[in-house]
Amino acid sequence: MSTSSLGTIAITGASSGIGATYADRFAARGHGLVLIARRGDVLDALAARLRAAYGVAVRVVVADLTDPAALAAVEADLASDAGLTHLVNNAGVASVLPVAAMTPDQITAMVAINVTAPARLARAVIGGFKARGQGTLINLSSVVAVGPEILNGVYSGSKAFMLALSQSLRQELAGTGVHVQAVLPGATATDIWQTGGGDLSALPPDAVMSVDDLVDAALTGLDRGEFITIPPLAEEAEWTAYETARQAMLPNLSRREPAARYR
Ligand SMILES: NC(=O)c1ccc[n+]([C@@H]2O[C@H](COP(=O)([O-])OP(=O)(O)OC[C@H]3O[C@@H](n4cnc5c(N)ncnc54)[C@H](OP(=O)(O)O)[C@@H]3O)[C@@H](O)[C@H]2O)c1
Repeated sequence: MSTSSLGTIAITGASSGIGATYADRFAARGHGLVLIARRGDVLDALAARLRAAYGVAVRVVVADLTDPAALAAVEADLASDAGLTHLVNNAGVASVLPVAAMTPDQITAMVAINVTAPARLARAVIGGFKARGQGTLINLSSVVAVGPEILNGVYSGSKAFMLALSQSLRQELAGTGVHVQAVLPGATATDIWQTGGGDLSALPPDAVMSVDDLVDAALTGLDRGEFITIPPLAEEAEWTAYETARQAMLPNLSRREPAARYR
């Protein structure tokens, strides 16, 4: 249960990288935290540091979110916390392998953590958010959601799922007081590259953002009430043009007759 007057923020994948940096920034703002990941020792150390540095309440939940029982327990935990104000749906794994080189189990595990867990956790919290008339859902997507040719197709598809989930939830939750933000990082210097079999040092340095800059930019976007935040994208007009083209096409995508060119 919450102890901060600002309410509690749950962060999945809080033991490293982007999630750990969100934890630091939200603690610095005075929010209580629920830190969720598998490595309890790392979460405990982070929690101790944040309590000492910022005087906030921090609770650790050790859970493998690919385990159905553990995921169900986290869902129940978050759904029952009346002080929960934000969920950062951040835990994830990546791969630089071609899809053909992945094992079936690798694909199953990636979908479980990148797709199933965030969708179920979003569902678990939005009921309470709606009932309280406020709440913020932050979904970590990626620029590969719109550039799937850049990386592994299952990973890119999972990040496109996070974008589509966010777009649809934004519509579903309009007028409820619940805010949805989709964050699309480009390459960011975290452990995910190494654990995904990649080599960050092989990328051009100009193409890799620090995790501090990424999260600070994402929070600037959040503070501005943005729905889509793409920290590396210099020209916002490029996204607007892309989105305008997509929206223009929507009324034309469901018809009784096949298009003339298919007849
Ligand atoms: N870094 C990038 O270039 C980049 C770019 C675009 C998007 N993203 C997205 O940003 C998010 C965070 O990634 P990151 O770069 O910060 O990577 P990271 O440093 O590797 O962190 C991943 C986090 O996910 C947790 N996690 C992984 N599997 C889990 C499981 N089965 N159950 C519970 N927690 C699990 C890890 O904790 P434990 O190992 O302790 O469980 C860790 O805290 C991901 O969704 C990723 O797709 C990253």
